Amino acid sequence: MDYRKFIDQQVEKIRGEVGSCVAITALSGGVDSATVTVLAHRALGARLKTIFVDNALMREGEPRRVARVFKKLGIPVEIVDARREFLDALAGLADPEQKRQAVTDTFYRDVFARSVRESGARVLLHGTILTDIEETLAGIKRQHNILAQLGVDPEQEYGYKVIEPLKTLRKDGVREVARRLGLPAEIAKRIPFPGPALATRIVGEVTEEKLDLVRAATAIVEKELESTKAFQYFAVLLEDRATGIRDGRREFGRIIVVRCVDSKDARKATARRLPWAKLERIAGRISRLPGVNRCLYDLTPKPPATIEYV
Ligand code: XMP
Repeated sequence: MDYRKFIDQQVEKIRGEVGSCVAITALSGGVDSATVTVLAHRALGARLKTIFVDNALMREGEPRRVARVFKKLGIPVEIVDARREFLDALAGLADPEQKRQAVTDTFYRDVFARSVRESGARVLLHGTILTDIEETLAGIKRQHNILAQLGVDPEQEYGYKVIEPLKTLRKDGVREVARRLGLPAEIAKRIPFPGPALATRIVGEVTEEKLDLVRAATAIVEKELESTKAFQYFAVLLEDRATGIRDGRREFGRIIVVRCVDSKDARKATARRLPWAKLERIAGRISRLPGVNRCLYDLTPKPPATIEYV
């Protein structure tokens, strides 16, 4: 694959499709949306508006971290506070596909549509990659960012056009494009993070209390496992509870799963054989979080599991 040619072609294509209009990109903190943003900025300059939607489902300190990185690249980022909208949309939903649908609707029908309207943009640029499309079409899970491939016409449904410059690439290809576009390693090499964010790492209903817990566990896992250079590592909060002992008393506590997988492009994955001492250290830190008395390590490959839990 000639990545330099790919970049030139996509820049031209974005210019052609956007014409003299304004376009919007939405950063999620992941490598896909970051790459689309830099590509679109190269194509459109000041005619690109970049937003970061704070959906209450992000990792610790994320909105400010992402805005700081892009400021350094000369790309201003507007943070849109949509925390309440997402929490309200997810309230009472336990089914994985319903949760994904709620995230999709809130992003596209509500938040993006409003940003597009307010900025006068006609086009939204999207970080959809090939794996997202394939898994959605295979019926494995409805990735939050898949529209056209499911017969949704965004122009008719939401009032704006969607362009997906990365839809022929997989994760390894996106990283290569990111590197060539000069994205810093902290973004280009960043582990994948799904669009529906921590909602995919809470089994069952998403609440603020559970988000705080899985966010704190995620911070521990990311810090402890950063040096592994694994494809992806994170924490998941289960819906079940288990009996334990805290301060000499019975506690019916929460269960956190740690996942750390190796993969090339997310189509297949295997659990990393982490050193026992590392696992014990993580389990110790996680079981000190309030109300958590179990920490499990997931050994399941993909397939039959998927990488995320929802
Ligand atoms: P799964 O869980 O399907 O995940 O094995 C494969 C890869 O895709 C990420 N993922 C998503 N990314 N929107 C995204 O942008 C989504 O809805 C979504 N679901 C999963 C996941 O983190 C993994 O890297």
